[in-house]
Amino acid sequence: MIRINDVQISYKDKNDIVNAVKGVSFDINEGEYLALIGPAGSGKSTLLAAIAGMLIPDKGDIVINKYKLKKISRTKRALVRARQYGIILQFSEMVNRFTVAENLYFSWYAANRGVSETDFHDRLNRLTDRLDMKNLLDSFPAKLSGGQMQKAAIARAFIKNSPIILADEPSGDLDPANIEKVKELFLEENAEGKTIFLVTHDMKLAFDAKTIYEMKDGRLCDLIKHD
Ligand SMILES: Nc1ncnc2c1ncn2[C@@H]1O[C@H](COP(=O)(O)OP(=O)(O)O)[C@@H](O)[C@H]1O
Ligand SMILES: [Mg+2]
Repeated sequence: MIRINDVQISYKDKNDIVNAVKGVSFDINEGEYLALIGPAGSGKSTLLAAIAGMLIPDKGDIVINKYKLKKISRTKRALVRARQYGIILQFSEMVNRFTVAENLYFSWYAANRGVSETDFHDRLNRLTDRLDMKNLLDSFPAKLSGGQMQKAAIARAFIKNSPIILADEPSGDLDPANIEKVKELFLEENAEGKTIFLVTHDMKLAFDAKTIYEMKDGRLCDLIKHD
């Protein structure tokens, strides 16, 4: 379980302070499919980055399993991130000198050292099948279109088989046919037990979630759906 407890996050730019997240609390339970919607600038990506341990709140705590993210070292946070999370960011970075398949392998290996490589190949086959992206595997990331990159980033997050997926606008660059594939993949992986925290503008995607929160101006303002 992830507990987000009165989290406040601000950005300081020279003389300017932006209070991006203004005291947000909720839990993400194991196996839950939770979506967060809200207008641009409402603090969704900031909150997701904090849950991912990529930035530390000014106030409040994020606790994943027994780890209080702000109390552990950067290295330990990186380990927690590698093992617990598959993360899809809005601007995903791949290692450009390696192919998409190699990038996926690195992601898998970081979380599955000691596991048989058959697991990597099984998951690779399944994901390339689900996302229809076999043709991308030998490409170098710099050659991909925005939509192709997004599919590669989604595959990279799921291939690790980590218990939790954090996804920030994973369908923003995709056409309707590909959005449908992503929608089905998320549902299938959640049905198999993965916890999903999804930030999205796409209500078609959001409505698959069991719980939908809306964020406005740094605060959770609405619980739209709860099963
Ligand atoms: N690196 C940054 N430096 C300064 N301000 C930022 C930074 N990132 C985001 N912000 C500001 O924080 C607020 C929340 O941004 P963000 O979390 O990206 O919102 P959302 O994902 O909901 O669009 C916005 O006002 C945005 O301009
Ligand atoms: Mg955002």
